Amino acid sequence: MFIRVTHLRAKRIRKDKLFKYFCIPFLVLFCVCACFCVVSYRILIMTMRMTNHKSLLVLLLILASWITFTVFRNSTELWTALKLPISLPHWNFFMKSCPEAPLNPVVSPRKTELRIKKIMEKLDQLIPNRPFTHVTSTTSAKQSRATILNPQDTYCRGDQLDVLLEVKDHLGRRKQYGGDFLRARMSSPALKAGASGKVTDFNNGTYLVSFTLFWAGKVSLSLLLIHPSEGVSALWRARKQGYDRVIFTGQFANGTSQVNSDCALFLNSSTELCEYLDTRDQEAFYCVKPQHVPCAALTHMRSKNKNVSYLSKQERSLFERSNVGVEIMEKFDAITVSNCNKKTAPVPKKCKFGMTSTVPSGHVWKDTWNPVSCSLAPIEMKECLKGKFVYLLGDSTIRQWMEYFKSSINTLKSVDLHETGKFQHQFGVDLDKNIKIQWQKHGYPLVGSLNFSVKEIEYLARVIDRIGGEKNTIIVISLGQHFRPFPIDVFIQRALNIHDAVQRLLLRSPDTMVIIKAENIREMHNDAERFSDFHGYIQYLAIKDIFQDLNVGIIDAWDITIAYGTNDVHPPQSVVKNQINIMLNFIC
Ligand SMILES: *[C@@H]1O[C@H](CO)[C@@H](O)[C@H](O)[C@H]1NC(C)=O
Ligand SMILES: *[C@@H]1O[C@H](CO)[C@@H](O)[C@H](O)[C@H]1NC(C)=O
Ligand SMILES: *[C@@H]1O[C@H](CO)[C@@H](O)[C@H](O)[C@H]1NC(C)=O
Ligand SMILES: *[C@@H]1O[C@H](CO)[C@@H](O)[C@H](O)[C@H]1NC(C)=O
Ligand SMILES: *[C@@H]1O[C@H](CO)[C@@H](O)[C@H](O)[C@H]1NC(C)=O
Ligand SMILES: *[C@@H]1O[C@H](CO)[C@@H](O)[C@H](O)[C@H]1NC(C)=O
Repeated sequence: MFIRVTHLRAKRIRKDKLFKYFCIPFLVLFCVCACFCVVSYRILIMTMRMTNHKSLLVLLLILASWITFTVFRNSTELWTALKLPISLPHWNFFMKSCPEAPLNPVVSPRKTELRIKKIMEKLDQLIPNRPFTHVTSTTSAKQSRATILNPQDTYCRGDQLDVLLEVKDHLGRRKQYGGDFLRARMSSPALKAGASGKVTDFNNGTYLVSFTLFWAGKVSLSLLLIHPSEGVSALWRARKQGYDRVIFTGQFANGTSQVNSDCALFLNSSTELCEYLDTRDQEAFYCVKPQHVPCAALTHMRSKNKNVSYLSKQERSLFERSNVGVEIMEKFDAITVSNCNKKTAPVPKKCKFGMTSTVPSGHVWKDTWNPVSCSLAPIEMKECLKGKFVYLLGDSTIRQWMEYFKSSINTLKSVDLHETGKFQHQFGVDLDKNIKIQWQKHGYPLVGSLNFSVKEIEYLARVIDRIGGEKNTIIVISLGQHFRPFPIDVFIQRALNIHDAVQRLLLRSPDTMVIIKAENIREMHNDAERFSDFHGYIQYLAIKDIFQDLNVGIIDAWDITIAYGTNDVHPPQSVVKNQINIMLNFIC
């Protein structure tokens, strides 16, 4: 699973390791020790009037060599012994003066690998291996039973409603373990209202599903079995296996004509490759080198699905349309929720930057998003954005923000950047209010059958490194959808690199506003092996975990899109508008 990373790391270590871990420390230590020896020697002969000068000098030099050798062999040991807060990153101090040293601190490849491994282990614990022999032994929505705990004729607004779910297999046998991928939602279509429900897995075949009755009216409850635990386990296993579910075609310029070639995140090929590497961040993309065409002539890229599957035939049957997203609470009538003359709860404080998210994180009412823990005020967009530079970095779900800004700030002028295609950079400027907004795609992989230019493609960590940042700079980052078809270490590695770049940015400019817009849900009846929401959910968990130690704002697009019930990779404009309103509340 770490093939790609390891592959790249091998190159990296050869280049840097000798210089960084061997020569500099060794020389410095030896110098320090030698100086120490000479000084000691002089002091000793002066104070003790020793006669055998030569043998003492030899003795001290041997001591110096021994110390150097020991320290060099195991630096941790000595620094620990001396209780000095010095560890490997300290060597960067010596590297600063070297011409080859990168400007930004380098996280060693091994450290990155360990960070990825730690996150993978956490995820593996969430998704235990559940092999199965026949579809009949997998979870069945039809056989499973949901019961409302403490049912009432009418409910009061603000109450909690609990549903107990007992899952069974297709033969009606109780399941002994959990792990099913479920989605709970309550809604009142007439009120344009909705919210997610919280699912607690007891890992014994029972689940508690809790709904908070946010509004009064007729409320329908829904509990979908998106994938049975066996399907989840199969998707997780399959995801680790191949980089080639989506394959890329690169287009190279060859004089006035073009040449096409296969490209991928990982290529197992004996032919000569073009390597597009970011060695600092261990990011890699490869193309088969077209004959007599230089690698630098790569201009365009497109992708298509390869006809491969890492699921067995048996497993694939779990992802047929009729088995995905099956309603468990089909026979339930809508419940009635009344106001019950309850005093309206005090309005919570205005939403601030970096607040924690709960499940559910809020509810939609009359098409407007209302967070649980804070309140959103309507904000005049143009006034709020006055003097701001907004960077929208990532995929097309954040490009939707760009389109929203262009359509709702009538004085925002699009600057023609002389590019074409759907992944072209976009730049909008309002000279009157001094507003600048730009959108830029993230680095490989970008999945799309339409050919797009890669002449200016750049990893987001590099883009963030180039941003100076200050209080009027706002960066909104969104990525995930294009990573779903690939092993998750690709996504985790990218998220870690972006995390580190944001961390560096916040060190030099602590008042820069950085907002992470989480991934949103998408079409349910899609190619599950490549694009299932399960893959997205895991990424959503990973990104929340990775960014929790930084002062960044999180827009929980996952929970918001469940509440809106928009199973669309590009949520409708009303959702985009409400997401943007969260950002406006963060910054104004
Ligand atoms: C270095 O010393 C530390 C502390 O005693 C030990 O844990 C570690 O295994 C040693 N490493 C090597 C390469 O000997
Ligand atoms: C499942 O676990 C929950 C919580 O630990 C417990 O209350 C419940 O009785 C268990 N159910 C079964 C069938 O074991
Ligand atoms: C590139 O162009 C040259 C002539 O302009 C042609 O001879 C060569 O075959 C082309 N290369 C490829 C790989 O098509
Ligand atoms: C690469 O391909 C060779 C032969 O085609 C195969 O033996 C090897 O296992 C492959 N390696 C990986 C990492 O897929
Ligand atoms: C994909 O491959 C399977 C077998 O490997 C084959 O049955 C199927 O026809 C292929 N589909 C397409 C579209 O080529
Ligand atoms: C890709 O797009 C570029 C410019 O938009 C065009 O020149 C090129 O022919 C296209 N390639 C294909 C294979 O459509």
